[in-house]
Amino acid sequence: MREAQRRGAFYSLVEGELDQLTRRLRDVGRGAHPTFAAASAHLFGSPGKLLRPTLVFLSSRFGPGARSSVIVDLAESLELVHTASLVHDDIVDAALVRRNVPTVNAVWDDDVALIVGDYLFAKAYALAAVLPKPEVIAMVAQTVFALCDGELTEVSAPAAMPTEAQYLERIELKTASLYAACCQGAALLADADPEHVAALGAYGTSIGLAFQITDDVLDVAGGSDALGKEVGRDLAEGMPTLPMIYAVEEDGGGDLAARIVARDKGPEEIRDLIALITSSRGVERARALAQRCHDEAVAALGRLPATAERDALGGIADFIMARER
Ligand code: FPP
Ligand code: MG
Repeated sequence: MREAQRRGAFYSLVEGELDQLTRRLRDVGRGAHPTFAAASAHLFGSPGKLLRPTLVFLSSRFGPGARSSVIVDLAESLELVHTASLVHDDIVDAALVRRNVPTVNAVWDDDVALIVGDYLFAKAYALAAVLPKPEVIAMVAQTVFALCDGELTEVSAPAAMPTEAQYLERIELKTASLYAACCQGAALLADADPEHVAALGAYGTSIGLAFQITDDVLDVAGGSDALGKEVGRDLAEGMPTLPMIYAVEEDGGGDLAARIVARDKGPEEIRDLIALITSSRGVERARALAQRCHDEAVAALGRLPATAERDALGGIADFIMARER
């Protein structure tokens, strides 16, 4: 309820487009293979926060070409890229729950989830391929490269703590690139002024970084019910995130780093590590960096005309910082 109220302000401006998009997403599996139809009904029966499409619709309003159907095509394409990447990521992470519902790999199995992700990705590209601007089509492809590079960096990382810079590079690829594409791609498609396109791209990158840092903080310091997915997944996989990097800095010559990057931990070790990390200044310092990214996003908005849409984008930046899931 509280979340619905907080959301209201920035969703309301683009409600019509969001309804259109939600209907389209519900139809994604229509006429396709019955397993894909069932899996996509499962995925889009409980839509997520729809932050990315909201960013597309709001960003498009900075150009004269807003409200055209191609903007909805871009929003759908990028939401499908996002969903495909999560379906694949849940296989990689062996995650059983997302958004409080069982993952595709949990309901069906890894093989089905792999192909459902491919199918969604192909649908996304079919939509992108007919966009009227080749530079936006290229941007969708570049974003998928970035997601794959980020994910590959993550899965092939050595069992060691990364530096803060390495961590930021990874999350820029795997998360912020998509946020930037939503904002920049929509502004380009709507023929916005190039300076506004650049400002929206910078805003998208910064809120994407803030989003992922917050996500990583919630994985160690959130509650699993509020989060809608299991906590401690990053620790379970030995995947070091920003609060852990900072906690290790405080640990001096201790064994915290080795314990974090170890694979195959039991639930007790994960609980112990969560207690150690949350009692260090790691969480607080990670939240402070997320706040700096938020502030950079707000500064980028300062380069845009003062409109209700700009205020709504500011509201999204605040929502990302305040979210509990
Ligand atoms: C979630 O990260 C994962 C991503 C943001 C990107 C995943 C990208 C791929 C699997 C590459 C393949 C892409 C396509 C389009 C087929 P997380 O595990 O930190 O977040 P979580 O806690 O929400 O799972
Ligand atoms: Mg994951």
